Amino acid sequence: MTLGVEVISSREDPFGQARAARGLPLLLHSMSVFREMFALVFAHHRIDTVVEVGVESGQVSSLYTDFGASAVHCVDPKPSDALRATLARNPKLHLVERPSPAVLAELPIADLYVLDGDHNYNIVYNELRWIMKNAPDAVVALHDVLWPCSRRDLYYQPSSVAPEDTHESTDEGSTVWHDETTPAGFVGGGAFTIAKQAGGERNGVLTAVEDAVAEGGGDWLLEIVPAVFGMGVVARKGSPGTEALMKALEPYTSSKLLATLENNRIALYTRVLQQQYEMVGYADDADRLAETINNQRHELDRLRAELDEAHGRNAALDQENRRLRSGLPPEPANGVGPALAQLGRVAAAQVRKSRH
Ligand SMILES: C[S@@+](CC[C@H](N)C(=O)[O-])C[C@H]1O[C@@H](n2cnc3c(N)ncnc32)[C@H](O)[C@@H]1O
Repeated sequence: MTLGVEVISSREDPFGQARAARGLPLLLHSMSVFREMFALVFAHHRIDTVVEVGVESGQVSSLYTDFGASAVHCVDPKPSDALRATLARNPKLHLVERPSPAVLAELPIADLYVLDGDHNYNIVYNELRWIMKNAPDAVVALHDVLWPCSRRDLYYQPSSVAPEDTHESTDEGSTVWHDETTPAGFVGGGAFTIAKQAGGERNGVLTAVEDAVAEGGGDWLLEIVPAVFGMGVVARKGSPGTEALMKALEPYTSSKLLATLENNRIALYTRVLQQQYEMVGYADDADRLAETINNQRHELDRLRAELDEAHGRNAALDQENRRLRSGLPPEPANGVGPALAQLGRVAAAQVRKSRH
């Protein structure tokens, strides 16, 4: 068996698989999960130079040098300090702080382009058309060719796409549970917006790839690995290794099992997103209720104090009433009465003492 304990577990270590599962992020989204497919790319094409567009944490970049690339140009206009530190640890990784596709012409022609930057029609179409024209023997791997970006543009903010080339967009997100966007969906939280409407022309990553490949006049192949938002592989027919690569990828690209698992994954994840959104709503309701209860407690305390005061006044009136009925003289003015009563009690006690 070739699978490790993190997949199968053992009698001695029955929790190996569970440990591996809980070590993963709740949402797998990095192209690092496509290691096996990249291994096939390197096995079938001579890959020396790589251009990686959209780097984020840099967790994939070293994978290409592990497989033998001598230079990886890591294009990301917004590198974090963590990314700079990660790339600095490997001298074969070169950070390029510019947006694609404009930057492509300034870099060496590569053998492998990995496109995972801005996920919209305009950017992906122009990236792919540039590569097909200027690096026709390169292999192109593209991320996010399936839901949610396949037929709906996503724009990283601030967007570098001209307003006339963008669709009307929203801060809301996609969900698989209905067709409309929702604040309870896959939202960008300020990092990106998405097109309000899905589908139609010039909308989405897969639409861009299909159009670019179609304009290649039947000379280009496109295959899709239907997992983790979809990995597209584009290569020119007749380029050395292309047919063999596509054949080697077939167990993945034709897998209904993978596609079903991906659909199940996005359904479960968007259900989690919806529940998280509802929980925030419930927590807000609970805060509002706690405030109402607190206000009502203060009101109860105030009413209790008013009641005590009314009881006191009532008792005094009762006493006055009883005195009037019994014909006794009125109590001396406030303060003198209790003092006189105390004096009377002391005198009576002394009389009792002297008698004994
Ligand atoms: C989904 S992340 C990349 C993830 C990474 N490829 C991985 O698999 O781990 C997208 C990245 O693209 C970058 N980006 C956005 N617009 C870009 C552009 N026009 N050119 C290059 N990178 C871009 C963003 O800053 C972000 O870091």
